[in-house]
Amino acid sequence: MKFDPRAGEDTLWRYADALAVPDLGLTLGEGRTPLIRASAEGEDGLLLKVEYASPTGSFKDRGAVTLITLARLLGAERVVADSSGNAGTAMAAYAARAGLRAEIFVPGGTSGKKLEQILGHGAEVVVVEGSREDTAEAAAARVKETGAFYASHVYNPFFHDGVKTYALEIFERLGAAPATLVLPAGNGTLVIGAHLGFTALREAGLVDRIPRIVAVQAERCAPVAAAYASGATEVPPIRPGPTAAEGIAIAAPARGPRMLEIVRETGGMVITVSEDEIAAAHATLAARGLWVEPTGAVAYAAARRPMPGTAPGEIVVAPLCGSGLKASL
Ligand SMILES: Cc1ncc(COP(=O)(O)O)c(C=O)c1O
Repeated sequence: MKFDPRAGEDTLWRYADALAVPDLGLTLGEGRTPLIRASAEGEDGLLLKVEYASPTGSFKDRGAVTLITLARLLGAERVVADSSGNAGTAMAAYAARAGLRAEIFVPGGTSGKKLEQILGHGAEVVVVEGSREDTAEAAAARVKETGAFYASHVYNPFFHDGVKTYALEIFERLGAAPATLVLPAGNGTLVIGAHLGFTALREAGLVDRIPRIVAVQAERCAPVAAAYASGATEVPPIRPGPTAAEGIAIAAPARGPRMLEIVRETGGMVITVSEDEIAAAHATLAARGLWVEPTGAVAYAAARRPMPGTAPGEIVVAPLCGSGLKASL
C-alpha cells in the first residue's frame, strides 16, 4: 500500500492511493472525522473518534463510498443491500449520489428514523419480518432474481477496504499506532476494516505493530464473545435477547471466525457490556455534549473500564460510531 495522503483533500479520497477502487468522483464528504479526548479530566489516554459526524451519521459511509464506486465501475444500474439500519442508510445515500437505484432489505423493528432516511434518499425499502439472517436471505434471493449488484457490507471486501481508512486517519493524526483499538462488533466491518488498515501500514513499514483489537458485544447478543471464551474458532449462532444496541445485534455473524482470528492475533479480546452499562455510557457521553445512538455508546462503555493489559497513559481509541439523531434508548 502507498500511504501518500492527498494534500487539501477533505474526503475519503485523501487516501486514494491506498484504496482498491479508483476515485470516480463519488463523495459526500465522508472520512476525516475528529479524534477528541474522552473527557476534559481523567481517562487520559482514551480518545474518541467521532464517526457520527459522517455524512449519513455513521462510519458505514467509509465502506459505502468504495462499494458503490465499485458498482459504478462495473456498470451496475441497480443495487441491493441488507442491513439493520446504518449500512442501509449509507448505501441508499451513496447509490442516490451515484444515480443508481437501490433496494434495501431491513429487518422488522429497524428504527423509524433510519427507514425515513433510506426512503428519503429514494431507495425502495423491503421490511422482512424475521431474523437478521432472514433479511440477508431475502436480499440474496432478490439479487439472484434481478441480477442487481449485491452491495453487501458483510461479504464484499471492497466495503472493508473503505473502512480501513478509519485506521489510516488515526495513524495520520497520531503519527503512530495507538496501543489499543476498542471496537463494537456485530458483523465485524469495523474490526476487519481497522485491522486491514493497520496491517497495510505495518507492511508499508510505517508502524511496527498492529494495535491490540478489543471487540465489544452487547451481553444479550454476544455470539463472538461466547466463542472467544470457549476457545472456539467457529462462531455458533446464539438465541439473542433484546438489546438497545440494535446495530450490533447479530446472532449469527458470517465473519465471526475472522473476528476471532483478529482479536487473538493482535493480543486483544472479546468482551461484553450490559444494557445498564450501555445506558450509563450513553448518559455520560450526552452529559459531555456527545449524542450517539445506543450502539454508538457500546465501545465507550467498554473502553472506560480499566482495560486489562493497558498501561496507564497508553493511547486507547474508541469510535462514537452512530448518531443519536437516528435511534434512542
Ligand atoms: C452505529 C453502529 N455501530 C457499530 C456497528 C457494527 O458494525 P459491524 O456490524 O460491521 O460490526 C453498526 C452496524 O450497523 C452500527 O450501525
